[in-house]
Amino acid sequence: MTTTIAEIRSDTASVEDRIATLLGEMTLAEKVGQMNQAHAGDMDPVEVLSDALRAGRIGSIINQVDVATVNELQRIAVEESRLGIPLLVGRDVIHGFKTVMPIPLGQAATWNPEVVRQGARIAALEAAKSGINWTFAPMIDITRDPRWGRIAESPGEDPYLASRLAVAMVEGFQGDDLAATGTIAACAKHFAGYGEAESGRDYATTNIPENELRNVHLRPFRAAVNAGVATLMASFSDLNGVPATGNEFLMRQVLRDEWGFDGFVVSDWNSIHQLAVHGLTADDRDSVLAASTAGVDMDMAGGVYEGHLADLVEDGALDIEVIDAAVANILRTKFRLGLFDNPYTDPEALPANGSPEALATAKAAALQSVVMLKNDKGVLPLSKQDLDRVAVIGPLADAPYEQLGTWIFDGDTELSVTALQGIRELVGGDVEIEYVRAMETSRSKSTQPFDEAVAAAAKSDAALLFLGEESILSGEAHSRADINLPGAQAELVRRVRETGKPVIAVIMAGRPLTLANIVEKVDAILFAWHPGTMGGSAIAELLFGLESPSGKLPATFPRMVGQIPIYHSQKNTGKPPTPEKVVHIDDIDAKAPQTSLGMTAFHLDAGYAPLFPFGFGLSYADFDYDNIRVSGSEVPVGGVVTVSAELTNRGDVAADEVAQLYVRDLVGNVTRPVRELKGFRRVRVEPGETLTVSFDLHTDDLAFYGRDNTLMVEPGEFHAWIGGSSDAPLRTEFSVVAGD
Ligand code: GLC
Repeated sequence: MTTTIAEIRSDTASVEDRIATLLGEMTLAEKVGQMNQAHAGDMDPVEVLSDALRAGRIGSIINQVDVATVNELQRIAVEESRLGIPLLVGRDVIHGFKTVMPIPLGQAATWNPEVVRQGARIAALEAAKSGINWTFAPMIDITRDPRWGRIAESPGEDPYLASRLAVAMVEGFQGDDLAATGTIAACAKHFAGYGEAESGRDYATTNIPENELRNVHLRPFRAAVNAGVATLMASFSDLNGVPATGNEFLMRQVLRDEWGFDGFVVSDWNSIHQLAVHGLTADDRDSVLAASTAGVDMDMAGGVYEGHLADLVEDGALDIEVIDAAVANILRTKFRLGLFDNPYTDPEALPANGSPEALATAKAAALQSVVMLKNDKGVLPLSKQDLDRVAVIGPLADAPYEQLGTWIFDGDTELSVTALQGIRELVGGDVEIEYVRAMETSRSKSTQPFDEAVAAAAKSDAALLFLGEESILSGEAHSRADINLPGAQAELVRRVRETGKPVIAVIMAGRPLTLANIVEKVDAILFAWHPGTMGGSAIAELLFGLESPSGKLPATFPRMVGQIPIYHSQKNTGKPPTPEKVVHIDDIDAKAPQTSLGMTAFHLDAGYAPLFPFGFGLSYADFDYDNIRVSGSEVPVGGVVTVSAELTNRGDVAADEVAQLYVRDLVGNVTRPVRELKGFRRVRVEPGETLTVSFDLHTDDLAFYGRDNTLMVEPGEFHAWIGGSSDAPLRTEFSVVAGD
């Protein structure tokens, strides 16, 4: 094990030997330095950070994206410090770097892990070109609350879909060789349960029973760890009274002891200091003791590890072994990234930003992310042969920045194709296009400019209404208590509707919106999320039928905000509602006897069903499922049952369909959801074609955490559905029986 410092940079010794040798050489100050991520704010980073770099007091830098600057900072760390330990260079590369993919919630609507993986790979290539070697993605917080602004950067409400996409993003960012050029370390965040923020208010308290935490919120993190994610980020949020950043149950018992994770955990921005703000600790010194003991290996931009760790060790309050373990975790990632061998970035060794491959990936993702929620009388697709004139209305029709969505610090708006540009490019030579902005922003309350929009619609053969939210209305710290279309948009819809022309709504937003107040006033709805760089081309091609919409909802759309939380995998309750048992507030007889109405779990003024369910999305094709069946009515624990059905395209255009498999465990050690997503597959179906879609279900796929919070597979009866949405009616049954 006598690896010399010189050998540290060779690959003759094992990573663990190299770590041990380096640790043995490091002073306490140098060890603390590795646990410190520094930023330079708006100041000159070389000027501000050089001394600390030379002293080995910085292990990572954040928010530096100029490759020459990053190489210089790296050079100082590697060539002018005593041990020459290279830097991790972190950045939020959430859904693209220069070329921007749809927001993660939109990518989730593709239900296509391959296109998501490809998007992450493109992001890694472009970010690495700037010297970045670590991204704070994928964000895999499960949430059932569209008021929460960060639903935009989440994979939505379902742990199975989130798990599949988490793996895809980790693979895309990290590749199959983390030391290769153009790969970057990923970071699964925010560990854990952040998406349960009370009332959808960002950073708010979360109270999640361990059983729910394990069965829902931890699943995608487990998948990311199993996929080899290099790092995790601790959440800001208070979890059951112990904020995640100081939560030993999460970071020691679950992450290390149960899952065997050997990467490292970074705090969120200054979240260690915030432990005192939460009231878990009295001051920074206590916070540093709590966070380091609980398992946070690196302090993001807080400066508190640098300020207190050494004193805590020297005072005997903190065991040096905690420090050594944290530093080993950090060094392990640096070795795996190959930073000791190749710390510098040669931008010429990587493809140009906005490459044809990058733009093609962004377009494919945008095309597959758009969800068609309504298409009355087949008003879509539009045909340029049938149109002389279209009115394009609304500020989001021509918004190269807004269509990129939240968390796009580095997005290049020069690459954006807006919907107006896309429509002009596609049909501008054949169809008269009149564009009216009508509103300064989505929040504008003035209806004065609507006259021009109404006049344009009246002269047109179809009105394309671009509605929704600008990117600033979702993302971190941008939650909304009312998730209707902002401003006077509903009035704009009403006014345009009055022209009697076909009205097609294209909605861009960072969350599900409550659309009940406009859904009857438009003939069709394309929900495009924030579709990224190539969103405009994709929207144009979907509007004019070059491709069929194929997105499926990754999150439920409530009728009213008061229904939240509302999601497909809810429990049955002891009084489940049915249409017959729902009484509507407008139907109550004024002299109604003072007894309960309906006696089941519904709202008098909203019923119990969402406006659009999880997994829902329409197509220009006409998909039909039948002949669902199982390979055997009984499957022994440890065995596999195959659930199949026939999928037919009864329409006259080829299109993608996302076939989905749901199951229900009828009786459980704890109550189980009425439906759980357990499989999905995006398939291309030609007109008239019938495909068999089959899903192999291992009994392990049916495992859940019981009341003792251990993972269990229970014999019992199961229902299974296959279809194009979570309310698919086609059902079969099977039983899990005790193994031999
Ligand atoms: C933010 C976010 C986190 C992000 C970090 C660095 O506050 O919570 O997701 O990665 O700070 O920007």
